[in-house]
Amino acid sequence: MLRNSLHRLGRLGATCSHHHHRPFTALRALPRSSSFTWTATTTTTFRSMHSSSLKQSALAQLRSNGVFKRLMSNAAATATATNTTAAAAKATVTKPIVAYWLYFNAGLVFAIVVVGGLTRLTESGLSITEWNVISGMKPPRSEQEWIEEFEKYKQYPEYKLLNRHMELNEFKTIFYWEWTHRIIGRFIGAAFILPGLYFASRGYMSKRVMKQTFGITALLGFQGFMGWYMVKSGLSQALMEEPGAVPRVSQYRLTAHLATAFMIYAGTIFVAADILRQHKIATGTYPKEAAAMLNNPVLHRFRRFAHIMGALIFCTAMSGGLVAGLDAGLIYNEFPFMGNSMIPPKAELWSDDYVKPNDGGKWRNLLENPTTVQFDHRTLAESTATLATALWLYSRRLPLPKNARVAMNTMMGAVVLQVTLGISTLIYMVPIELAAAHQAGALALLTSNFWLIHALRKVPI
Ligand code: HEM
Repeated sequence: MLRNSLHRLGRLGATCSHHHHRPFTALRALPRSSSFTWTATTTTTFRSMHSSSLKQSALAQLRSNGVFKRLMSNAAATATATNTTAAAAKATVTKPIVAYWLYFNAGLVFAIVVVGGLTRLTESGLSITEWNVISGMKPPRSEQEWIEEFEKYKQYPEYKLLNRHMELNEFKTIFYWEWTHRIIGRFIGAAFILPGLYFASRGYMSKRVMKQTFGITALLGFQGFMGWYMVKSGLSQALMEEPGAVPRVSQYRLTAHLATAFMIYAGTIFVAADILRQHKIATGTYPKEAAAMLNNPVLHRFRRFAHIMGALIFCTAMSGGLVAGLDAGLIYNEFPFMGNSMIPPKAELWSDDYVKPNDGGKWRNLLENPTTVQFDHRTLAESTATLATALWLYSRRLPLPKNARVAMNTMMGAVVLQVTLGISTLIYMVPIELAAAHQAGALALLTSNFWLIHALRKVPI
């Protein structure tokens, strides 16, 4: 410790040899009383010494009046403080590389949502009838293996009721859609777990970020299970018994699978954005002007509505999952009317056909009646679009930092695009490209909303 402090002193003198001040005058002015403390002025005085002999004499003087001892303990205290700060920084501020990794993973999640949508739209989701984490990674290689795989598929209702005409080549196509979806899922698992363990072991993540990434990874595991649980509902042999049954997965499980994907995606981008924000705050690089604007109480209401907007987008997207799960986009292919008016007849929306014994009401229409489900999706989408427009108009009167304004404008654009895609998907009776773009659009809209919410977060100044 002493050697370090002496070294520091030596460096101070050595770096200042070009100065031509009068150090002794300054040193003589130093107080001899025991209340002396090492201050910025003292440092400046020391820095101004211009030769090593002067430095030696100054040291001698300092030693003789007890300043040296205090100086040493002061240097030691500074060193301890520096170490403590470094340790604290390690524990509370996550390295930006962790955020970039999470953004990359969010990109993968976005991609798998689109591939998942395509898997559903190409009606490929039930082509692989087993679930093996490791051995399932290998697709059939020989013709014999393909035939065996096809034979397994032939045992299930989807083939028996819908695809009896199917050739091996067509089977290969639907197999590869589902296989690709599953392989990306496994890859995402590895992309979270392996670098996550590395970053955690190197101390790159704060405790909070570690917990958050662990939570997201656990949700990923749950998503794998949800995917299989969903597929199982479409493989059920009971479908063979039900007259007029369509072999498809349960719309509830499809929506739950979609909801989990949205939560994983949203959680990942939120943690990533927060890491970069915290890092900027800790290093004092958060733009001061923006920080001051964000603390303006006039933004309070706008911030609250940005959050409500997020909840509304999520609900609209989930109702979209029900539309997709029930193939409810194949009826009422017009907009804004549904038949003769904007609201279908009450008897159709609130039908007795969907009531099961012990239901105690007609609520099941909301979740199982394609007309009602489509109507709800339209209504929620119209509310989302209306709130977004109102928020956008409101934002134009507010003093917003540039980042938040760009986020708001992007969200407005995303809403317009999403509504256009939704209406087109409906009018053209769910063509694959439009429906897949509409699904991706929902995530893009959610992203812009999260960006806005994040850009509006208060910054301590
Ligand atoms: C803010 C607006 C909207 C959001 C966030 C949204 C979101 C979604 C989502 C997430 C899906 C599920 C996709 C899937 O699982 O494959 C979906 C499906 C669907 N949406 Fe929307 N949607 C919006 C507006 C609209 C509008 C205005 C319409 C038409 C009036 C519409 C019509 C449809 C249809 C027909 C489907 C089913 C497509 C299929 O079977 O793949 N959407 N929507």
